[in-house]
Amino acid sequence: MTEWARFVRATMHDLQPYEPGPRMPELERRYGRALVRLNRNEDLFPPFPGMREAVEAELPSVWMYPEESYDEFRAAVARRIGTTPDRIVPAHGSQALIGTLASLFLDPGDVAVTSRPTYGLYAKASAARGATVESVRLRNHRVDFEALATAAAAARAKVVWICDPNNPTGSLAHRDEWETFLDALPETCVAIVDEAYADYVDPESRLQREGDVEAGRPLVVLRTLSKLFGIAGLRLGYAIADPQLAHYMDVVQEPFNVNRAAIAAGLACLADPEQIEKRRLAVAEARDVLCERLRAVGVEPLPSQTNFVLVDTGADGAALAAALAEEGLLVRAGGEYGLHGFVRITVGPVPLMVRVADALGRTLAR
Ligand SMILES: Cc1ncc(COP(=O)(O)O)c(C=O)c1O
Repeated sequence: MTEWARFVRATMHDLQPYEPGPRMPELERRYGRALVRLNRNEDLFPPFPGMREAVEAELPSVWMYPEESYDEFRAAVARRIGTTPDRIVPAHGSQALIGTLASLFLDPGDVAVTSRPTYGLYAKASAARGATVESVRLRNHRVDFEALATAAAAARAKVVWICDPNNPTGSLAHRDEWETFLDALPETCVAIVDEAYADYVDPESRLQREGDVEAGRPLVVLRTLSKLFGIAGLRLGYAIADPQLAHYMDVVQEPFNVNRAAIAAGLACLADPEQIEKRRLAVAEARDVLCERLRAVGVEPLPSQTNFVLVDTGADGAALAAALAEEGLLVRAGGEYGLHGFVRITVGPVPLMVRVADALGRTLAR
């Protein structure tokens, strides 16, 4: 028998693959009913108009590599966000970009700084490259930018990973926090900001970090079409990066790592700015309904401008999640993030929000 650990780099030995939890068929068997996924922050609204048709129309071309599609996608994203196509690096999801950037920046022994709790992949991708990961606690469930900059300076960190808005808390950086942080960042260090949920943020509160990238600050921004645009299963994201860095990212990434169907879907989603704004508003309205109803049953949600809400239930989060599953609703228990007593609920259409808040209220009243 081959002992594979002998060949695998030592930094990988203690890491575990991402574990998304029990599969839907298993859960539906366990609870004896159909279940709604409010636990994954996927898009629960109808597909964007024209998206499915665009994928179908692309199928006759799948024998070709997607080089022209890449150019079209870069141009479409650049138009939408008001930058140049050479600053856009497409990839099969922002997860792929997290790996690419960790490979580009981190040598064994380097230090990467992140928040706690936040999206778990930053720490794992950093550790897999042999980096030491330091995590800075959130303050009042918000990213503590001052402490991140201090930790980065003290550890001579190479990278600071930031999730803004932060998953799982939903907190959003204020402009002054962000600008002070960027100015305080040591010269040895780059910031990687994962904006997976930024498409949900109202325009007045958005930081427009693409401007910081254009200004040449030490920053990379990651975005995804898995959330507001609803194509998580097709895998499509992009980085906004300085053209010099975009060049290096293309060195590290596999050529053509995004498939034609995903790009066709992405282009269809980006084609209609009015539709994008309509979807953002629909999610915001449903989120308001969820928050109001949660307050009405006596629990307080944290402020969120995303497609999820974290709520302090004061109860056992895992038991509450199990009780809601009995009612056909999967939510995320906060325990896995060290947030005992909290549950995270993905925002979906209004009737679903009414249903989940009512079920949560009934369960807590028992
Ligand atoms: C903060 C954050 N980043 C990235 C991702 C994954 O994005 P993608 O589907 O583009 O790989 C998620 C998914 O839940 C997320 O919450």
